[in-house]
Amino acid sequence: MANKIFLLLLPLILSFSSSTSPSDSLSKGSSLSVENPNDVLTSPSGIFSAGFFPVGDNAYCFTIWFSKPFCDGNCTTVWMANRDQPVNGKQSSLSLLKSGNLVLTDAGRFTVWSTNTFSQSTVNLQLNDNGNLILYDLEASVILWKSFDFPTDTLLPEQPLIKDKKLVSSRSQSNFSSGFFKLYFDNDNVLRLLYDGPETSSIYWPDPELMSWEAGRSTYNSSRIAVFDSLGNFSSTDDFTSMSADNGVGIQRRLKIDFDGNLRLYSREDGRDTWVVSWQALSQPCRIHGTCGPNSYCSYVPDFGRKCSCLQGFKLNDHTDWSLGCETEFNLSCSKNDSGFLQLTNLEFFGYDYGFYPNYTLEMCEDLCLQTCGCKGFQFKFIKHDYPSNIPYCFLKTVLLNGHHSPNFEGDLYLKVQKSSLNSGTPAEEFRLDCSGAVVTQLGRRYAESHENGTIKAILWFVCAAGVVELFGVLLVWCFLIRNQNHTGASKQGYFFIDTGFRKFTHSELKKATRGFSEEIGRGGGGIVYKGILPDGRVAAIKQLNEANQGEAEFRAEVSIIGKLNHMHLIEMWGYCAEGKHRLLVYHYMEHGSLADKLSSDALDCEKRFDIAVGTARGLAYLHEECLEWVLHCDIKPRNILLGYNYQAKLSDFGLSRQLKRESQAGSSFSRIRGTRGYMAPEWVMNLPITSKVDVFSYGMVLLEMVTGMNPTEDMQNRGLVTWLREKMKEDNATDSWIEKMVDRNLKGKYDKDIGKMEILVRVALKCVNDDKDARPTMGEVVQMLLHHENGSVSI
Ligand SMILES: *[C@@H]1O[C@H](CO)[C@@H](O)[C@H](O)[C@H]1NC(C)=O
Ligand SMILES: *[C@@H]1O[C@H](CO)[C@@H](O)[C@H](O)[C@H]1NC(C)=O
Ligand SMILES: *[C@@H]1O[C@H](CO)[C@@H](O)[C@H](O)[C@H]1NC(C)=O
Ligand SMILES: *[C@@H]1O[C@H](CO)[C@@H](O)[C@H](O)[C@H]1NC(C)=O
Ligand SMILES: *[C@@H]1O[C@H](CO)[C@@H](O)[C@H](O)[C@H]1NC(C)=O
Ligand SMILES: *[C@@H]1O[C@H](CO)[C@@H](O)[C@H](O)[C@H]1NC(C)=O
Ligand SMILES: *[C@@H]1O[C@H](CO)[C@@H](O)[C@H](O)[C@H]1NC(C)=O
Repeated sequence: MANKIFLLLLPLILSFSSSTSPSDSLSKGSSLSVENPNDVLTSPSGIFSAGFFPVGDNAYCFTIWFSKPFCDGNCTTVWMANRDQPVNGKQSSLSLLKSGNLVLTDAGRFTVWSTNTFSQSTVNLQLNDNGNLILYDLEASVILWKSFDFPTDTLLPEQPLIKDKKLVSSRSQSNFSSGFFKLYFDNDNVLRLLYDGPETSSIYWPDPELMSWEAGRSTYNSSRIAVFDSLGNFSSTDDFTSMSADNGVGIQRRLKIDFDGNLRLYSREDGRDTWVVSWQALSQPCRIHGTCGPNSYCSYVPDFGRKCSCLQGFKLNDHTDWSLGCETEFNLSCSKNDSGFLQLTNLEFFGYDYGFYPNYTLEMCEDLCLQTCGCKGFQFKFIKHDYPSNIPYCFLKTVLLNGHHSPNFEGDLYLKVQKSSLNSGTPAEEFRLDCSGAVVTQLGRRYAESHENGTIKAILWFVCAAGVVELFGVLLVWCFLIRNQNHTGASKQGYFFIDTGFRKFTHSELKKATRGFSEEIGRGGGGIVYKGILPDGRVAAIKQLNEANQGEAEFRAEVSIIGKLNHMHLIEMWGYCAEGKHRLLVYHYMEHGSLADKLSSDALDCEKRFDIAVGTARGLAYLHEECLEWVLHCDIKPRNILLGYNYQAKLSDFGLSRQLKRESQAGSSFSRIRGTRGYMAPEWVMNLPITSKVDVFSYGMVLLEMVTGMNPTEDMQNRGLVTWLREKMKEDNATDSWIEKMVDRNLKGKYDKDIGKMEILVRVALKCVNDDKDARPTMGEVVQMLLHHENGSVSI
């Protein structure tokens, strides 16, 4: 009987003893209570403590903090178990169950966090002097779980950040829940900082204007480990290294991704409770993306730091949070008559270009923006060129993000505004943050009386967590960079592309979308294309790649190239699926199929053919010139030119394409011949250097096919077609009737007024199919020739 009473009292006795003196470990069956301030685990020499830490009104997180030299109500936290789900100040506890599972219980009822461990032998939870909280199986002497494997926003010395783990910033200085800035290893093995906001995401470190190797990073080591040592040297397997300003042993340090998005190494001042920054990733705070939301821009004010401002005519969305940006109070009408442009100097909105237009004058750019209903403005600047001088570039914007005002930026933003407001000349309003909103708000904590079902809650929590994991898994941002060969200051401004909601699909989702892969709409070397309807109602073309090895290479080429690009003349990729053996790509569905299909029926008049030629040339010019010969398509042919509902041309099938390495820009060797017979440039066969001019050649063959209707793979060898055309032109030049003889029979009688356009196509095509690659024009020049000689009267 006495024994029984003792057993009943045991937990009480235990909790009493633990409440009198801080313990250094927790054994099976015991727990730490939120209600007892002395329920704290302390490391052997007292450097770290772990316990319940207040994060709000009646809200606590199980936390590890620095407790030595001292921490006086202002402790420096290094880890949290439940940062996104604080627990109640009553009846919450951390318990090491008999099963070996360590669980955090909210208000005596709901499990908000657990280690999911299991062991029947003796288990012990202890905090080490390096800040690592470890769950040991004492009999088997194995570590069941350790906090170093699950970092939150801080790394401690020798704590590695590894593949698939991330440091995630807090929301604010006072709100410890997960924020939007992340340090992680990207798919290419490079350690990066990412702003991953609710609406948009973009990488800001290393400098997104630079290719990895230019930023001193290597991509070859896939072990993906970043760690800082006891000397304060931070190094990562992508060759990144840095050294703390106070390099040496014996100093407490921590590496933290701060709520402002910067990554900083802090060192403790000797024996004091203050930390100094001994290294930081970014020295220009306005380079951090996401801080000033849409339609606002960041500027640096000495002695104050960075500051956000709304664009003229816009109002701050939320007076407590700049990251939500600014909005207009009126909607811009799409009518050209009502809109004008406001010039804002030295203002840059980085990335998210809707379109890119080299050698466009201000008027041309304004016109383009007025014609594009969603256009909010454009970035206009001169980029240095070899010949004859700097040329103007036009970057259309449908969203204004990553705004940055800097006197060093030599370019202007032209903001589309209502004509009426242009004349009124009202200055931009200044907005100040309402700091009262920044105070910690009371959390709606639940007590055990609540009727909520714990199991449902746990399931919801799990679903939520799974969702977050999924989000992490999919790389949301694909940045792609333009480079200028001259490396001038002005030309160093890079641009990257809109995040179009690119995502990973499961195989079953796609199976459902295509109703079991029932409606085949195309078939090519790489695989079969099906029509499908995505869960959100969008109509998609879903390409199932062959399972052969080539399928894998093609898949990677497509995802890595087209997934990064967004241009109105390139096919839009919405996502992919890589599950087991399945490799699928999901694209925007093109209503009118491929140019090849349309050429064989007589659906295309001269006007449409000409527009398709211009669109295709624009798409290619964008690939070659924005990327400066970095991306070659390598398989331009009518089957790979798709037509949207209004016959807008979009390039597709990047499976054979290739990004040229910068060093080998003069020409690159390819391991195998790529392309389709009939459209292939002679360089392939003659083993000459491969440059963007191979695409120019293929484009020329496509133009000839569009005019003559003759398929170079069937009707004649491509040489034959070209020679035949050249001869015809020579024969009939005097009479000007040559063009009528060669035009597609499907066009007979329909081309009278547009005959000039067909003539231009032939003239341009013959330049493109020159055997000497240096005599062929660039795609940019092709666009110019097509646009500036539309009536055919000007000789080329
Ligand atoms: C806590 O630390 C912050 C930053 O080091 C400091 O600004 C603040 O005054 C401290 N508060 C207290 C109560 O010591
Ligand atoms: C990758 O980095 C790890 C850790 O630094 C190193 O041990 C390994 O040898 C590296 N691998 C290669 C291929 O260099
Ligand atoms: C760490 O920093 C020291 C300077 O104190 C430097 O000499 C050393 O090479 C660095 N070690 C590593 C591994 O980078
Ligand atoms: C602007 O357009 C949006 C969406 O089309 C609409 O919800 C909103 O009410 C409009 N605002 C004004 C002021 O017309
Ligand atoms: C725009 O202005 C022109 C000339 O003033 C006028 O002819 C045209 O009807 C206007 N268009 C609209 C949509 O208001
Ligand atoms: C830009 O366009 C003008 C005329 O439109 C042309 O004369 C000039 O050569 C072009 N420059 C380049 C570099 O293409
Ligand atoms: C912290 O921020 C999150 C997200 O905005 C919010 O849901 C939560 O209530 C905030 N917590 C505190 C203590 O203010």
